[in-house]
Amino acid sequence: MPEERARPVENTGEVVAAAIIVDGRLLLAQRTRPPELAGLWELPGGKAEAGESAEDALRRELREELGVEVSGGDRIGDDVPLPDGRVLRAYRVQLVSGTPAALDHAELRWVDERELGEIDLVGNDRGWVPDLRLHLNGR
Ligand code: CDP
Repeated sequence: MPEERARPVENTGEVVAAAIIVDGRLLLAQRTRPPELAGLWELPGGKAEAGESAEDALRRELREELGVEVSGGDRIGDDVPLPDGRVLRAYRVQLVSGTPAALDHAELRWVDERELGEIDLVGNDRGWVPDLRLHLNGR
């Protein structure tokens, strides 16, 4: 039988997500899309472009989404495989300049350790909570 069905496009590459911690609080952003994720909270970030390093992707995404400049990018937590073939990774980044604004999200919130445990995170980000707690506890 001939292979006539179009194969789904396998995406490769990385989706980067940023943990910004200032004064013991982690910045979370509330998604507006897609409908099934709207209202849930995430570490802000997005898809790296072809040939872009994770650090460059973090800088670009946070400039676009929050209007801030960041640096660094030490890994936090485990890889999260996404259904489309990409891999989601979290990085600790430092705020270099600017005040985060919700340019692409419904709302931003700075959460402490207790609030992190209570807020509705997107499913993909939930596994990072223990690692984020360690970082909130003084690292
Ligand atoms: O903004 P862009 O289109 O580049 O990416 P996105 O829509 O923010 O994220 C791409 C995919 O990664 C989506 O499926 C998101 O749900 C997922 N993602 C996630 O699960 N957790 C994050 N902290 C960031 C993205």
